[in-house]
Amino acid sequence: MARIIDLPLTAGEGSCDPRAVHGTWGALDAAQRRGLAYTPEVAAETAPLYERVKHVIPAVEWPAYAPLISAINKMKRAKNAVILAHNYMTSEIFHCVGDFRGDSLQLAREAAETDAEIIVQAGVHFMAETSKVLAPEKKVLIPDMRAGCSLAASITGADVRLIKQRYPGVPVVTYVNTSADVKAESDICCTSSNAAAVVEWAAREWKTDRVILLPDEYLAKNVAAQTGIHIIAWHGRCEVHERFTAEDIAELREAHPGVIVLAHPECPPEVMAAADFAGSTAALQDYVVEKQPRKVVLLTECSMSDNVAQYAPNVDFVRPCNLCPHMKRITLEGIYDALAEMKHEVTIPENVQVRAKLAIQRMLDLPKEKPRAFATGRPPVAVELV
Ligand code: 13P
Ligand code: SF4
Repeated sequence: MARIIDLPLTAGEGSCDPRAVHGTWGALDAAQRRGLAYTPEVAAETAPLYERVKHVIPAVEWPAYAPLISAINKMKRAKNAVILAHNYMTSEIFHCVGDFRGDSLQLAREAAETDAEIIVQAGVHFMAETSKVLAPEKKVLIPDMRAGCSLAASITGADVRLIKQRYPGVPVVTYVNTSADVKAESDICCTSSNAAAVVEWAAREWKTDRVILLPDEYLAKNVAAQTGIHIIAWHGRCEVHERFTAEDIAELREAHPGVIVLAHPECPPEVMAAADFAGSTAALQDYVVEKQPRKVVLLTECSMSDNVAQYAPNVDFVRPCNLCPHMKRITLEGIYDALAEMKHEVTIPENVQVRAKLAIQRMLDLPKEKPRAFATGRPPVAVELV
């Protein structure tokens, strides 16, 4: 069964509470050190927000979070800032300070469209870079510069240049979970919401039956199974999703008869084959909200279940815990400090920004469609690994 990843920031072994990474005491201490208190005004003002998270935060713990939440929301208004919160943020961030919430594709669209002067990215570094690429005139802040991603770290712009030399004329589709340098070397980006559609588009545009899809090996295999297109892939992996196995699913089905198993397409193909439904974090949320399964398990980062539970109170979530240590670097106190001190600004050299924007914008300009589901129950398909 998937286990907690060892965090430099002490998640309790065996704990399944993503907030345990920093903990209620951490938030309380952080608020006190910043001179923020749980006053009757703060209590009254944040009461409607507590309604959104009461399924995950016990009432007795709310006074630890509410002062930071109240102060952040005030600062946002005063500074004309917005917070873009990814689906993997802990619930007190996602539901209480996030202005726009969603998967990587939705957040990129919001970054391109917002009128705010400041964007605080409650997500990982590649997401903040994507915002900066799309909105270079805005100040983009990330609460912790160390919030990386194993996929983004797996490949460099120089790697992509070598791949292009080896496969001249083959279109390069790059997953958004990459650095701006890598995007700048690419023909078009994709996310897990639109990967199959983008790869099909690239094959049509380039009049080819071969497409390079970087850097996630498993996403590439899952797209190959979906599209029938010959995919040339890299060996990057998501350190969170690669841990799920088909045996996990068998154990879950045995322990929870009738459970519906949903998987993210960064999972291995064997997991996709054994799941009931697969798609981006937005697609998983849509499935739960629309279908209202009696009991469900989301094979993805564990804050997802907490966040989706707010929209599906009657659904019973089974929660194997698999934390993303990078996403969990983002905390309320980090967001507060970033906004208060205008710190951790993300910058990108102009020549990289301009070329990376072409690849991202091409993706955003494709016809908007609902996040596409990935096929499940299919045998794995091989890809050509560079
Ligand atoms: P989504 O695009 O599905 O939100 O995925 C982002 C991510 O980092 C998944 O691990
Ligand atoms: Fe990267 Fe995986 Fe974390 Fe997403 S969950 S940010 S892909 S390491």
